[in-house]
Amino acid sequence: MSGARTVVLEDPAVATAERIAAAAADGRQVVLTGGSTPRAAYERAADLDVDWSGATLWFGDDRCVPPDHEHSNFRMARESLLDRLAGPGPAVQRIEGERGPAAGADAYERVLRSVFGGGVPEFDLLLLGLGPDAHCASLFPRDAALGERERLAVGVETPGMAPLVPRVTMTLPVLNCAREVLFLVSGEDKAEAVRRAFAGAPDPDAPASLVSPESGSLTVLLDPEAASQLPAEAVPEGEGAA
Ligand code: 6PG
Repeated sequence: MSGARTVVLEDPAVATAERIAAAAADGRQVVLTGGSTPRAAYERAADLDVDWSGATLWFGDDRCVPPDHEHSNFRMARESLLDRLAGPGPAVQRIEGERGPAAGADAYERVLRSVFGGGVPEFDLLLLGLGPDAHCASLFPRDAALGERERLAVGVETPGMAPLVPRVTMTLPVLNCAREVLFLVSGEDKAEAVRRAFAGAPDPDAPASLVSPESGSLTVLLDPEAASQLPAEAVPEGEGAA
């Protein structure tokens, strides 16, 4: 994928944690991703000795459940990061998924537009994971949300993967306006999705392949298992040791 920097690391959660903590220490606007993979990165980031109080954390997507529900991405971030911080925490702009996909998306979009002056937000650091179907955030193959180019956040009534609860997701224009996009992907089960997302042409059947920041950077942090189906040219010599 042109422009993407792919790095293979034994434990990409460590590099992810360091990047998140550095952005937080600089008081940046940071978008967290959900799912299970980032939990270890968030736990490590919480243990790094930085001042989080100047940062603001956002969410690329969340499930339409209460914030204390087992499927809530906010709950995962609260448990793995926010509750573990020793000092004052960051500001947090939570997606109110419990309002439902449409109302939750409308509310989040209002906050995004009010904080960022009405245009497309330029987040300093935007984290993404990757599903086995090559989705990212809650932008699933062949879903209308993937084609949205005006809204900043939309509802997803029928996600393409478990948990099969409606979602609220940031849209592709927001992802592609970020100054730095960082994918964190691990595990053999993601290897095919990694190849489809980062080693082929942009393809709406592989939503992550459409993430191509207009002026920002794109870095893909992988463990060896997730990288196992990438052609050699997709991981430049020496990157693997970075
Ligand atoms: C979500 C995430 C989603 C996630 C991928 C990978 O709400 O589920 O935002 O895009 O990053 O589904 O999830 P795992 O890390 O659990 O494999």
